[in-house]
Amino acid sequence: MLILGGTGLIGRAVTSQALAGGAEVTLFGRGRTGAELFPDVARLTGDRESGDYGALRGGRWDVVVDVSGFVPRHVGEAMEALGDRVGRYVFVSSHAVYAREGASPGADEDAPRKPPVRSVRHKADLDDSTYGPSKVACEDDVVARYGTRATIVRPGKVAGPGDWSDTFTYWVRRAARGGRVAVPGDPAQPVQVVDSRDLGRLVVRLAADERHGAFQAVGPAEPVTLGGLIRTCARAAGTEVEIVRVRPPRVPAMFPLIRADRISQQRSADRARAAGLTATPLEVTAADVLAWDRERGEPPLSKGWTEAEERAVLAAYAESAG
Ligand SMILES: NC(=O)c1ccc[n+]([C@@H]2O[C@H](COP(=O)([O-])OP(=O)(O)OC[C@H]3O[C@@H](n4cnc5c(N)ncnc54)[C@H](OP(=O)(O)O)[C@@H]3O)[C@@H](O)[C@H]2O)c1
Repeated sequence: MLILGGTGLIGRAVTSQALAGGAEVTLFGRGRTGAELFPDVARLTGDRESGDYGALRGGRWDVVVDVSGFVPRHVGEAMEALGDRVGRYVFVSSHAVYAREGASPGADEDAPRKPPVRSVRHKADLDDSTYGPSKVACEDDVVARYGTRATIVRPGKVAGPGDWSDTFTYWVRRAARGGRVAVPGDPAQPVQVVDSRDLGRLVVRLAADERHGAFQAVGPAEPVTLGGLIRTCARAAGTEVEIVRVRPPRVPAMFPLIRADRISQQRSADRARAAGLTATPLEVTAADVLAWDRERGEPPLSKGWTEAEERAVLAAYAESAG
């Protein structure tokens, strides 16, 4: 298995699962992320931003897992470099491909996607409006090139140890402090997060079973609300929380897991489950993220509120307790 990426949150889960299943793995990347991981695994160096795929010139792989493709140029150049020296191309896409309009709870993989965007050439140039549409174009190009040898995996929000996005980690750490927890959104909104280890297992399984088509990877097993997720994180930490809705005039952009769009958090996992998606209990994910966060020394987070900010918001804008 060749993994384009393989050392970030999702990639390392795929790599671990592939190795556990006895696969011979090669990683391709710049050598910047997780350089200390997997010391016995073969590594090839290259940079997708500059189109440097020279290291892929030789070799054959049964499957390539593309975790680091964001714009169609990335996938186009990788496919050109690899040609028919790979059996299956598994592309890690995103739930961001789906159109907002016409969506309904329980939507499956056939839900309408956004129109593709091909104009963005660099990951750094993507924004909220072009990230999903660029992934749509990547998906289309992989399927056009490899047909039934193409597999598309669309994760929802991913959580697990090694997550540098600070999204799920914010609530895990916040719940572990206990007490009154400020929520700048509806605590009853549905939330979907998938454990990175479940996602890694699914990718390896889809490749082994040679499944083609698209699979949305969402979790946990049972539907959960944002308030329920925070309480589960508290249970994992052995603390008590009181969820307090707040409506301050300004909320930091991309506040962790706050979604105005409820439908996007109620997608069906049926097809992925039937293909082998496992469902780690949310409490286990929370406990493992908490342990990882403590082990790394709980550095400042890039999202959410600091303790002092939250205290000020609670003092001024607490609306109701529940
Ligand atoms: N996290 C989520 O909640 C979520 C949800 C839906 C979809 N996704 C999708 O999941 C993927 C991200 O997965 P992840 O968390 O494992 O990724 P990540 O933390 O962003 O890591 C990306 C991997 O790609 C390599 N990489 C980055 N830039 C590269 C470049 N220019 N050339 C070659 N290799 C490069 C990195 O290694 P080096 O730095 O050493 O190069 C690393 O191994 C993306 O495709 C994203 O769209 C994520």
